[in-house]
Amino acid sequence: MHTQVAIIGAGPAGLTLARMLHLQGITSVVVEQRSREYVETRTRAGILEQPTVALMHELGVGERLADEGMSHNGFYVRFDRTTHHLDFHRLIGGHATVYGQQELVKDLIANRIATDGPLLFDASVTAIETTASGARVLVDHAGTPLEITADFVAGCDGFHGVSRTHVPAPSRREFTRTYPVAWLGILARTTPTTPEGMYCAHENGISVHSMRGPKITRQYLQVPLDTDLADWSDEQIWDELTRRSASDDFPELERGEIFDRSLAPLRSYVCETMQDGRLFLLGDAAHIVPPTGAKGLNLAVSDASTLSFALGAFYGSGAREHLDSYSETCLPRIWKAQHFSWTLTTTLHALSDDPMDWRLRRARLSRWVESEAEQAALGEVYLGLPFPTHWWHSAS
Ligand code: FAD
Ligand code: DHB
Repeated sequence: MHTQVAIIGAGPAGLTLARMLHLQGITSVVVEQRSREYVETRTRAGILEQPTVALMHELGVGERLADEGMSHNGFYVRFDRTTHHLDFHRLIGGHATVYGQQELVKDLIANRIATDGPLLFDASVTAIETTASGARVLVDHAGTPLEITADFVAGCDGFHGVSRTHVPAPSRREFTRTYPVAWLGILARTTPTTPEGMYCAHENGISVHSMRGPKITRQYLQVPLDTDLADWSDEQIWDELTRRSASDDFPELERGEIFDRSLAPLRSYVCETMQDGRLFLLGDAAHIVPPTGAKGLNLAVSDASTLSFALGAFYGSGAREHLDSYSETCLPRIWKAQHFSWTLTTTLHALSDDPMDWRLRRARLSRWVESEAEQAALGEVYLGLPFPTHWWHSAS
């Protein structure tokens, strides 16, 4: 099988890139190790920045997002039993949109299939070979070996994928910060406690109260890294969510059926070497942010936009410079999102017993809620910094 771009992974990065290449007349094959059902039901992110939403409309996959996405002006912060609303819309304009990652993935998959774009499920990449003139990707497709030859490979296979390991270890410029905590996430049939998402800073750790609709909530608890999900009964989860979100100004949290639960460790990681010859890394394959601030999916989409432009320039006019500078183009936005996620993580989580730390965190939280300048600065990144490039290349 031959194509111009072999795309490994049908997450937000791979599927968005495939759509952008298709619209520029560039062929691609998307190879995904999991089943369609698995990727369409995997519960993860939920907050889309406005550049992400605008892009999905441009790509012609924004119809359901427009109908079902919930437009939010900012978020709530609660500490010392008091609730504050940070209204970024009022200060700087714009919105964030609540729309489950798996819904976006479903829309992109449906579009890919409707436009006859090759998309193989149950197809695991086992090896990548690149030369000066092309690439070979070896795939185990439901037990049958398959070889794809391509001009380029887009590694969109997430943090645990194979693509990054293709970049020789000595040339990988990597930065890692780990945190001794994880997020225990639930989906529940309950009414959201606040009209927009809320971060609660409590001495036991953060609780996050988000939503997926008027009667479905998505909530998270900071838990120790070595937590076993089976150790938490539903009642314990509700007790802890209630304890951390207790306030003097809003009713107590509503309890209801929990129908999904998951655990995600917190990590900050960047591999600055996002390309090696004809291989390019996108999204979680190249970088991970802790979930606080909801940047991961949005970064995956902005990397796809940058690579799509560079490939468009290459196939449109033979220009190589945008491919050559792919990492340098992506990295400033990635580091700003890293900084934002780290700031929210260290301010909102309880990461030490040192009483001075809480006082410093409270001082920062107080500045967030009392200063419109602080809020505007947070809002600019939360609602989404502009993407570094357009997704399409125009030769004129
Ligand atoms: P992925 O979505 O991980 O996709 C990679 C794909 O590659 C997978 O489908 C995988 O099966 C496939 N794959 C792996 N190896 C192979 C192989 N060898 N062969 C073929 N296929 C392979 N981000 C936000 O922006 N907003 C949020 O609100 C948010 N909240 C989050 C909450 C939680 C609890 C978690 C865990 C994450 C959250 N994120 C959030 C992060 C976001 O989900 C990720 O950053 C996003 O999924 C990255 O997209 P991706 O396409 O790079 O990778
Ligand atoms: C959600 C995810 C996040 O990472 C976050 O910071 C806030 C909300 C969510 O899944 O809705």
